[in-house]
Amino acid sequence: MRRSMSQRVLVTGGAGFLGSHLCERLLADGHDVLCVDNFYTGTKRNVTHLLEKPLFELMRHDITFPLYVECDRIYNLACPASPIHYQFDPVQTTKTSVHGAINMLGLAKRTRARILQASTSEVYGDPEIHPQTEDYWGRVNPIGPRSCYDEGKRCAETLFFDYQRQHGMDVKVVRIFNTYGPRMHPNDGRVVSNFIVQALRGEPITLYGDGLQTRSFCYVDDLIDAMVRMMGTEKGFYGPVNIGNPGEFTIRELAEKVISLTGSKSKIERKPLPQDDPRQRQPDIALARSKLGWQPKVALDDGLKETVRYFRALLAQ
Ligand SMILES: NC(=O)c1ccc[n+]([C@@H]2O[C@H](COP(=O)([O-])OP(=O)(O)OC[C@H]3O[C@@H](n4cnc5c(N)ncnc54)[C@H](O)[C@@H]3O)[C@@H](O)[C@H]2O)c1
Repeated sequence: MRRSMSQRVLVTGGAGFLGSHLCERLLADGHDVLCVDNFYTGTKRNVTHLLEKPLFELMRHDITFPLYVECDRIYNLACPASPIHYQFDPVQTTKTSVHGAINMLGLAKRTRARILQASTSEVYGDPEIHPQTEDYWGRVNPIGPRSCYDEGKRCAETLFFDYQRQHGMDVKVVRIFNTYGPRMHPNDGRVVSNFIVQALRGEPITLYGDGLQTRSFCYVDDLIDAMVRMMGTEKGFYGPVNIGNPGEFTIRELAEKVISLTGSKSKIERKPLPQDDPRQRQPDIALARSKLGWQPKVALDDGLKETVRYFRALLAQ
């Protein structure tokens, strides 16, 4: 039964944090998975355990260049996702989002594959409405240091919807909110990995601003489940759909949870807020609930425990 429903699935950015979990899930569902990555922020270590599986294939390729393979489904995740990484080479970041989307949409058009774009809550910028619904157009600075990512992702969404309108393509767009879990990068400056690594090393925990800015945190397993469900929705439903955990925590609360879960003696150290850092970010997931029959299941404490376990093992290596 499983084999007969097996599809050839291309995952771009498959050696990254989310991509590697997605590859695992697709293999477990019986699909033939081609993982494409240029290892810019991802690493072979994230998928080493999959290499021996007969239905898994790893290809080094930069999606800013065209790719000619056969596939039935494409998940387009390739893009550096943390400010430290996407600001390191901002032109390449925009190219990955924009040229990458054009190349992957071209491939989907040729192969008649269904294609899903991993977009982001950053398309809402520093939002004036709270929580954010999908019909909100956002408040994004087009010329700031985060714009390479935010505007690149916005343009990728535009391309997805234009390819749909112009060529009748089968596209899906999800907007991912802060996600955390094992295989996050230890030094990418994202708040969950930052705090855990600092706590495990006994270093001060850096809190930007007053720490009262809020974020929502979705555990990776919940996120992957929503992406797979989105890919399985009926033709004609394109999204965009917010995926995230609406549970809202202040950054200070997160720091305190991490200190308590790690048993660390780290102290909290305050630093100035970076430019264009949003005060509040929380998904409205009513659409995901109704169209995907999905809502996050993993509580922050449980997800943090798994993530702490991962980083403890990583730092011990
Ligand atoms: N993790 C989150 O909280 C979050 C939130 C919103 C959106 N997203 C989106 O989800 C996707 C995956 O994010 P992640 O957290 O796993 O980040 P990640 O950096 O771990 O993964 C991105 C992967 O893409 C690869 N990559 C980058 N540029 C490439 C290129 N030009 N060609 C081929 N591969 C390339 C990297 O090497 C890496 O393996 C990204 O598109 C990101 O924008 C993630």
